Amino acid sequence: MMQVEATPLEHCHMVDLPRIVDPRGSLSVVEGGERLGFDIKRVYYLYDVPAEGERGAHGHRALQQLFIPLLGGFDITLDDGHRSKRIRLDNPARALYVAPMIWRELANFDRDAVCLVLASMHYDERDYFRDYGSFLREARK
Ligand code: TYD
Repeated sequence: MMQVEATPLEHCHMVDLPRIVDPRGSLSVVEGGERLGFDIKRVYYLYDVPAEGERGAHGHRALQQLFIPLLGGFDITLDDGHRSKRIRLDNPARALYVAPMIWRELANFDRDAVCLVLASMHYDERDYFRDYGSFLREARK
């Protein structure tokens, strides 16, 4: 039987994080490793994004990431060179796993939004596609 491989876009998925709620407040947790699908090598966060601010607009060759909207929300558009989809992230217990070879654009940030990103690799500019044309050429090979 012919094996049909999942596309990079199909590899992206929402991750429901555990929510430990008690009268003192809520706690959610992410553990790197098997459950997440990668070991966490780097953590960064986006904040103070102006109303019309746009982030991302690049792709990664190998990097895997988990986007967690800690406060407020924003839209993220995922594009694998064939199909794209836009998702609103605004629940701190609902994260988004972004697979390698995805062009992503983040926009429509709420005021004071904070986005935490867990990444599978240390920062390496060589892993980036900064140009959409070069990304498309690689993605459509
Ligand atoms: P970039 O990845 O383009 O940010 P975003 O995807 O959120 O729009 O990075 C913006 C700048 O920050 C760029 O000059 C590289 C630098 N940077 C680091 O030095 N280390 C990092 O881990 C990240 C994510 C970015």
